[in-house]
Amino acid sequence: MIDVAEMQPRAGMSPAKFQPLAQEIFTLKKQLNAVILAHNYQVPEIQDVADFVGDSLGLAQQAAKTDAAVIVFCGVHFMAETAKILNPNKIVVLPDRDAGCSLEASCPAPALAKLQATNPNFWTIAYINCSAAVKALCDVIVTSGNAEKIVNAAPKDRDLLFVPDENLGQWVMEQTGRKMTLWQGNCYAHVEFQQENILKLRAQFPDAKVVVHPESLRAVRELADSVCSTEKMITYCKTSPAKRFVIVTESGIIHRMQKECPDKVFLCAPTVDAMRAPTDPCHCSECKFMKMNTLEKVRDCMKNLAPRVELPPDIIQRARVPMERMLEISAR
Ligand code: 13P
Ligand code: SF4
Repeated sequence: MIDVAEMQPRAGMSPAKFQPLAQEIFTLKKQLNAVILAHNYQVPEIQDVADFVGDSLGLAQQAAKTDAAVIVFCGVHFMAETAKILNPNKIVVLPDRDAGCSLEASCPAPALAKLQATNPNFWTIAYINCSAAVKALCDVIVTSGNAEKIVNAAPKDRDLLFVPDENLGQWVMEQTGRKMTLWQGNCYAHVEFQQENILKLRAQFPDAKVVVHPESLRAVRELADSVCSTEKMITYCKTSPAKRFVIVTESGIIHRMQKECPDKVFLCAPTVDAMRAPTDPCHCSECKFMKMNTLEKVRDCMKNLAPRVELPPDIIQRARVPMERMLEISAR
């Protein structure tokens, strides 16, 4: 049994506010037979009540194997949809229905279908950051944690089409040597990182290792000691002998890093957007969609069993095929 009085949330929320909310959430969790899954970018207090905190791949793997009756998905909408695709008969709720993603928004299903119609030899690989309707049009799904492995396993006689992240796609082409047609989408938060700012930080802290998410621009990736998914970033920092790290991704990840490596120092890479506000002492990058979720909204979505993810059965059926292909190749 978790003792909420022992839990000290970092950041914005005081223990006096956190503890009764956390208690309510744990009671609801038991009543509903629910599991709480949270992405690494969620606010600390949400991470602290979750059963599992991880990257998109880890969360999809957890969703695929859970026997809970209700999945409370603390992340963005496409992630909750992914859980529903893998669990059509379960209730999947999310704290805020409007928690979108700029990558998902960049690739509407009808526009993808139109492009696919121009080349019958296309084999479509979709980054998991897309809608269920887009997944339903694709051959396989990838995450930043397994994209290289999955593209290496793609049929050699097909023309690869990669959607919707051009930066991740470019990085995977560099790693695998496979040529791909890239959809022109990007993560609005990661493209804010600029080479110049990371170089300044590296000059100031020459002992620091630079860890970069592959959604970042090539000029930034080129400065990295490691380019990887959020989960692999945590493993890299845990296992590296270095004591200081420049983290080039969304700042929510720092909570787990500090929890799991209390003797190490994590520096959030500054973004251009934050640099435009010189009076703001924090120059960290935040995804406005991930940050729509609050602990109160987690409690409310459990109380109301809403907002709930609902998808047409034919979309679920078609989107499940590339999702399961991804999980199968990933496990090899
Ligand atoms: P990860 O799968 O690496 O956690 O990435 C998810 C994401 O949305 C990054 O912006
Ligand atoms: Fe989407 Fe970028 Fe937010 Fe990740 S950080 S959910 S890719 S907008």
